[in-house]
Amino acid sequence: MKGDIMPITRSQVKSKTMVAYILQSHDKSNIYLPDIEVLNQRNFEEMLEKHETVYLKPDRGRKSKGIIRIRRTEGLYLLRKSNEELEYKFDSQPSLWSSVRQWTSHTRYVIQQGINSVTKDNRYFDLRCHALRIHGEWVIGGICARLGSPGNIVTTSHIGGTPILLDSLFTDFLGYSKEDQDQVMEILQDCILNAVNVVSPVYPRNWEFAVDIGLDTDKRVWIYEVNNEPLIRGNFKLLTDKKLYEKIRYLRTIAK
Ligand SMILES: Nc1ncnc2c1ncn2[C@@H]1O[C@H](COP(=O)(O)OP(=O)(O)OP(=O)(O)O)[C@@H](O)[C@H]1O
Ligand SMILES: [Mg+2]
Repeated sequence: MKGDIMPITRSQVKSKTMVAYILQSHDKSNIYLPDIEVLNQRNFEEMLEKHETVYLKPDRGRKSKGIIRIRRTEGLYLLRKSNEELEYKFDSQPSLWSSVRQWTSHTRYVIQQGINSVTKDNRYFDLRCHALRIHGEWVIGGICARLGSPGNIVTTSHIGGTPILLDSLFTDFLGYSKEDQDQVMEILQDCILNAVNVVSPVYPRNWEFAVDIGLDTDKRVWIYEVNNEPLIRGNFKLLTDKKLYEKIRYLRTIAK
């Protein structure tokens, strides 16, 4: 598989399916990948059967646009969209699929196992992990947490989310002990570096990536996606402490 992948130019828009396919084909990254399939009726039915929560995402989506969460609860399906506060309720799978098909027919979508990456007070969060190639080696430039606004299904600052320092997430929002933090940090580092080492050969001219990561209530680390053109304005720049932002800006000047 590895040898068969063609290099991709930076100008090409990233496809979530393609990146997932690369991550899946290496054991060291596959272990962090939630179940993910191209959205079609068969995969939809199978994924809903297997998972209590699923996320639907445009294959070439950005800034959390067009994201849909579906939850299965006692005979009902609850659906939320990233840009609406409304909750839709469906009492059968055919009626659910009929609406989903309409909302997603304009572009290719993926369906992904939902990760319960929530704080103690039930707010969604994820981790934005920025990696750069310095002197030929991938290093982690910075990790920040993105906290979704209460009740929201995504975490981006474009839809009400707030970037916060990882330390603050661990202590104030997750109540981790020092031991928990060390344990999670070790897994996180392994996950990020494995992901970029696996994806980067496909984008040989790319010297930076950002891995979006979920962390569930069992402290398991999951890759949502790998971004090949990561911006730092909507996340690291918004932290009140600008150290990480400045560090990444500096690393960008020497990365290649
Ligand atoms: N499988 C999942 N389980 C739970 N939450 C998810 C899942 N996939 C995505 N999300 C939530 O939706 C957000 C956006 O997902 P993703 O990063 O894959 O798409 P995107 O459109 O590229 O978004 P962005 O540009 O904001 O990072 C994530 O930051 C996360 O909060
Ligand atoms: Mg993302």
